[in-house]
Amino acid sequence: MTATTPKLKHEVKDLSLAPQGKQRIEWAGREMPVLRQIRDRFGEEKPLAGIRLVACCHVTTETAHLAIALKAAGADALLIASNPLSTQDDVAACLVAEYGIPVFAMKGEDNETYNRHVQIALDHRPNIIIDDGSDVVATLIQERQHQISDLIGTTEETTTGIVRLRAMFKDGVLTFPAVNVNDADTKHFFDNRYGTGQSTLDGIIRATNVLLAGKTVVVVGYGWCGKGTAMRAKGMGANVIVTEIDPTKAIEAVMDGFRVMPMAEAAPLGDLFITVTGNKHVIRVEHFDVMKDGAMVCNSGHFDIEIDLKGLGAKATEVRQARNFTQEYRLQNGKSVVVLGEGRLINLAAAEGHPSAVMDMSFANQALACEYLVKNKGKLEPGLHSIPVEVDKEIARLKLQAMGISIDTLTPDQVEYINSWTAGT
Ligand code: ADE
Repeated sequence: MTATTPKLKHEVKDLSLAPQGKQRIEWAGREMPVLRQIRDRFGEEKPLAGIRLVACCHVTTETAHLAIALKAAGADALLIASNPLSTQDDVAACLVAEYGIPVFAMKGEDNETYNRHVQIALDHRPNIIIDDGSDVVATLIQERQHQISDLIGTTEETTTGIVRLRAMFKDGVLTFPAVNVNDADTKHFFDNRYGTGQSTLDGIIRATNVLLAGKTVVVVGYGWCGKGTAMRAKGMGANVIVTEIDPTKAIEAVMDGFRVMPMAEAAPLGDLFITVTGNKHVIRVEHFDVMKDGAMVCNSGHFDIEIDLKGLGAKATEVRQARNFTQEYRLQNGKSVVVLGEGRLINLAAAEGHPSAVMDMSFANQALACEYLVKNKGKLEPGLHSIPVEVDKEIARLKLQAMGISIDTLTPDQVEYINSWTAGT
């Protein structure tokens, strides 16, 4: 549904879903105590007053809490989807109807609509962009150079976006500060590992209802997302194979107890393949050709380029929808390959993305990164900036506090020891 009222522009599927969205947003809030504290402080201090802000995120119950915190901080915030399949339509409706936040996001939107929403976001003339995958920033640089002077900076949520920002910097086109939220310890150790680990299996199970115990699961890529996915698949009783291109990560996978081999060897062995590399075509036609009949493939990396679906489509004699988010490609060799979630992020396409408890820390980082950009307006060099370590530690401290867990502190004697180099054997 598209509506342009004098009050609030938006493009969401169905505003009547708002009450259901409200209930689900409230439920998620129970697991997001750190962001709640930040929202309460923001409500008093208004650190983003007058800031035009665009957030390009997966529109989920957790993102709703981020958007509400940003609005409480005084930001003029607009939200668009960072993926055509990840939007929770009831959440989008609720943010518009209950919280007065303009949202442009509909589950299942096509690429043309997605790109149009990016343009609408840029029409907002943002001072801050919260990006997830760097599409808004890339479009700004490619098509709206004249708006760069409006920008205080950007924050980036995900590994793929950070890789793109580094490439932009190398090419000399990243002429403004970008805060690297992904690499905060309180982000990637938890969100990328435990969030992706749990939610990827959740998406696969919701899409297929398969038993993981006893299956051979091939995890493609052993970054933080791959580590979490492999660990959780092993925990469910799967025999896990890891494929990698980085020798250090490959050794790590071996020492974590996984079989490691090239994809050419893993392809005939796997029952289920999960890509989490951030790179393109890590599963290709030569791999489909040798897979078992009925092998399932899915992706939990940011973009839908990891599996060569075009190549698979060209080989297929028939494609049929077997279940929601489950398409079976019949190949010329008589075998079939099953693709889940159209090769898009399976955890967000077929499930609800990372659980709220990890997004609490990821989005606490996002909220504080925005405040940091505003406080340091004009002082930060162009290029990537880490989240200050004190901020990262404070988020961890608040999370522990909310969990009712206390930890030790150094004694004065220990402080002296740790700061001196004279004491040895
Ligand atoms: N990325 C992964 N899971 C997410 C979630 N639940 N909300 C927003 N972004 C996400």
